[in-house]
Amino acid sequence: MHELSINSDTEMLALGARLGRVLRAGDTVALIGGLGAGKTTLARGLVQSLLPHETVPSPTYTLVQTYEFPEYTLWHCDLYRIEHADEAYELGLMDALGEDVCLLEWPDRLGGLLPENALTVEITFDGEGRRVSLRGWEGRDV
Ligand SMILES: Nc1ncnc2c1ncn2[C@@H]1O[C@H](COP(=O)(O)OP(=O)(O)OP(=O)(O)O)[C@@H](O)[C@H]1O
Ligand SMILES: [Mg+2]
Repeated sequence: MHELSINSDTEMLALGARLGRVLRAGDTVALIGGLGAGKTTLARGLVQSLLPHETVPSPTYTLVQTYEFPEYTLWHCDLYRIEHADEAYELGLMDALGEDVCLLEWPDRLGGLLPENALTVEITFDGEGRRVSLRGWEGRDV
């Protein structure tokens, strides 16, 4: 487990970029943290490190934003408004998990459907900044 102190938007974007460097098809990243913790900011840093010209909107209303790469589709999902894990099937997310790359805000909404080998990124408020704990992906240089 890694524990990091992230004190600005810029540092959160950079952490996203760091994760972007080690991504592989089939990866799931579970972004855990309260409202405004910085989940979307991290996802934006990750996507923009791979696609510098993308604006990367929050998927608050669309629930899903996808980005195409040669090896996979990257799914950025905000599951906050999902009321039942079954809705993840309707979004097509269940076919993507383990095949494509999935960045999931509010992954708790999936209940037991979240892949066990997901990287868990847990963001907690720490004064003006954030503490970020990374769990999983042992043996990978995150
Ligand atoms: N250390 C920090 N890391 C990330 N964001 C920060 C930090 N400090 C302040 N912020 C601010 O906090 C907000 C984080 O918003 P963001 O949309 O990324 O959160 P979120 O976790 O996705 O929220 P939601 O649950 O509503 O989707 C931004 O306005 C950002 O500028
Ligand atoms: Mg968000």
